[in-house]
Amino acid sequence: MSPGATDAEVVPLARPSFGPAEVQAVADALASGWVAGQGPRGAALEEAVAARLGAAHAVAVSSCTAALHLALAALGVGPGDEVVVADYTYPATGHAVLFCGATPVFADVRPDTWTVDPAAVAAAITPRTVGIIAVDAFGQCADYDELGALARRSGLFLVADAAAGIGARYRERPAGVLADVTCFSLHARKGITSGEGGLVVTDDAALAATVRSRSSFGVRPAYERERGAELEVPVFETLGWNYKLSDLQAAVALVQLGRLDELLAVRAARAERYRRGLADQTGVTAPVVGEGRDHAWQSYVVTLDPDVPRAAVARHLRRSGVQCSIGTFASHLQPVYRSPARCAVSADCFARHLAVPMHAELTEAQVDRVLEVLADAVAGARAGEAG
Ligand SMILES: Cc1ncc(COP(=O)(O)O)c(C=O)c1O
Repeated sequence: MSPGATDAEVVPLARPSFGPAEVQAVADALASGWVAGQGPRGAALEEAVAARLGAAHAVAVSSCTAALHLALAALGVGPGDEVVVADYTYPATGHAVLFCGATPVFADVRPDTWTVDPAAVAAAITPRTVGIIAVDAFGQCADYDELGALARRSGLFLVADAAAGIGARYRERPAGVLADVTCFSLHARKGITSGEGGLVVTDDAALAATVRSRSSFGVRPAYERERGAELEVPVFETLGWNYKLSDLQAAVALVQLGRLDELLAVRAARAERYRRGLADQTGVTAPVVGEGRDHAWQSYVVTLDPDVPRAAVARHLRRSGVQCSIGTFASHLQPVYRSPARCAVSADCFARHLAVPMHAELTEAQVDRVLEVLADAVAGARAGEAG
């Protein structure tokens, strides 16, 4: 923020859209006496998510990271296994593989959609590969037809990391029914949010039951146990975690899910305004929407030309009260993975992408201001603005 800019003048990168319905839902949950996880609001959320997406099962959990960990654990991933992972992603995707003691093998992404390149996935498969994790980059679906066919041919599972993908569609089908298991995030910067949270969505009843149980120490929900006539003493047979979504959060997420279309429509309109505004802008390229995709616009990420120094552009934006960030990460470059992979496209995206404000509270005037400041920032950065 510039020394003179007030909070009111700052255009935030992300901002949740909460109204009276969310406030009322929290008040109702507080008054109900049940605020822990896997209560009635969690169950209602799961039912509503499954119905909205046309999937058989949804399980509400504490984050998308937890959702990914649970999905992989339920799929039986363990030491010695390799999982092919889209390289350009928040490192939660690769971390989930590490949590299972397995090895993430990173595959490069397409230069247009930034989703995993099916040819790179095919090339990364070895006799130790057990599955594939595709990522819906910033709210745009991966190539699920090609990836699904490859997975079936190779006897692998296909997990969709749709952390940013709620509301996205691929060839008329929603994110949530495009892979064996789909993991969504309800984090504050996502299309719908409960602050933190996640969802595991699948048509596989046994897998959903395992995920639900292992999100709660491997035992039946306390809410159900406490309501039976008999005293039920749980037995801990399998290792589980405490990955439950609280009913307070579920209450908020349920309201947000009901508003999904309204929130998506604002994001899409703002993305269109950015697209038009960037059409004649030199030094900056607008994001590309791939064939057959409806983008959910979780983030709006532009690509700077190689001769435009990103740090200088970001500094100018921030000093002018326009928040911005990198796109996301080239996983193979993160030291934690000690990865031998080379993913040139992902590395280039990691270096040149810039996320500008995108959320459902963003006004048209704010988009215009971002475009104006961005144009100045690029011109200044190119001219060698020292900052
Ligand atoms: C692609 C991707 N996967 C996973 C995550 C982790 O989500 P959460 O914060 O809900 O754990 C994120 C978060 O930004 C993400 O972008």
